[in-house]
Amino acid sequence: MQQRVRKAIFPVGGLGVRFLPATKAMPKEMLPVVDKPLIQYVVEEARAAGIEQFIFVSSHGKSVLEDHFDFSPELHETLVRRGKTRELELLDELYLEAGQIAAVRQPEPLGLGHAVWCARHLVGDEPVAVLLPDDLVRARTPCLKQMVEVYNEVGGNIVAVMDVPREHTDRYGVLKCGREKDRLVEVQALVEKPKPAAAPSTLSIIGRYILQPQVFELLENQEPGAGNEVQLTDALAGMIGHGPFHGYRFEGTRYDCGDKAGFVAATIAFGLDHEKIGTAVRQILLDQVQQLESGDPAR
Ligand code: UTP
Repeated sequence: MQQRVRKAIFPVGGLGVRFLPATKAMPKEMLPVVDKPLIQYVVEEARAAGIEQFIFVSSHGKSVLEDHFDFSPELHETLVRRGKTRELELLDELYLEAGQIAAVRQPEPLGLGHAVWCARHLVGDEPVAVLLPDDLVRARTPCLKQMVEVYNEVGGNIVAVMDVPREHTDRYGVLKCGREKDRLVEVQALVEKPKPAAAPSTLSIIGRYILQPQVFELLENQEPGAGNEVQLTDALAGMIGHGPFHGYRFEGTRYDCGDKAGFVAATIAFGLDHEKIGTAVRQILLDQVQQLESGDPAR
C-alpha cells in the first residue's frame, strides 16, 4: 500500500521571458486560456486527483496568484446585489477550503529544481505531486489523476512523458528507456536538454511529476546544470536505482503554454471545447481558413 499523494507543488517563480512583453508586469501563470488563467487549470487538475494541500512556490510580484483563489468580499457582495447567480457559481467553484493553499517564496529564479526545493518544509516526509502551470493537458481523465491511479499500484517516482520530435530534445528532460509495460516505461537514465544527436530517446518529461521526498535531499546539494539553472531532472537522475522509477505515457494532448505558438494552440483547443463559445470558435476558425485559402491580402 503506497502512502497517499496529498500535496502538490506549483512552481510559479519563473520570469516568463519567452512570453514577454505579456509577462512584464503579469505572471505567466495568470495568462488566460479562454476564460481561466493557467494556474486555475492545474489547480483544478490537482483537485480532481485528490490533492488536499496546494503549495505555490512564488516570487516577488506574484501574490495575485494566491489572490485568485481567495474570497473577495467586495466582488461577492456586488454580485449578490446584482443577482449574478451564474457568476457567483463560477467563483464558488474556484475557492479552496480555508488553509488548503500555502505559498513559499523563491527569492531568485535559480531553476525549477531550486523552486521545488523551496517547498521542502511544507511537504515533509511524504510523496508529492509537482505540476507546472504552463503545461496544459487536455484529457478525458485529468493527467495527474491518471498518474495517481498508476502510482497507487507501482509507487516510487513517476514522471509524465511523451514522444517529441527529435529536433526538440534540447528543450526537455529525456529518458533512457528500460522495460515497457502498457503506458509505463522503466527509467534507466535521465538527461536534461540533450542535443538531438546525443538524446538517448525522444521520450521526454512534461510538467507533471509524482516524487518521493528523497528528492529534497538530492536538491539540497544539486549543482546548477543546463542553462546554469538548478535542474529538477538532475536530482531525479540521482533517484534512479533506489526504488521504482517510471515514465508514464499519459492519455491526452499537452500544450506548452510557456511558448507563444503553444499558447495559441491551447486557446483554440479549449475554445472549441467550451460549452458557451465552442460553436462560435469553430465558425471563426473555418472563416479564418477560408480567408487564408482565398489569399487574404492583409497577410
Ligand atoms: P519555465 O522555464 O517554463 O518558466 O519553467 P520560466 O523560467 O518562467 O519561462 P521562460 O523560459 O523564462 O520563458 C516552468 C515552470 O517552473 C517555474 C516557472 O514559473 C514555470 O511555471 N519556475 C522556473 C520557477 O518557479 N522557478 C524557476 O527558477 C524557474
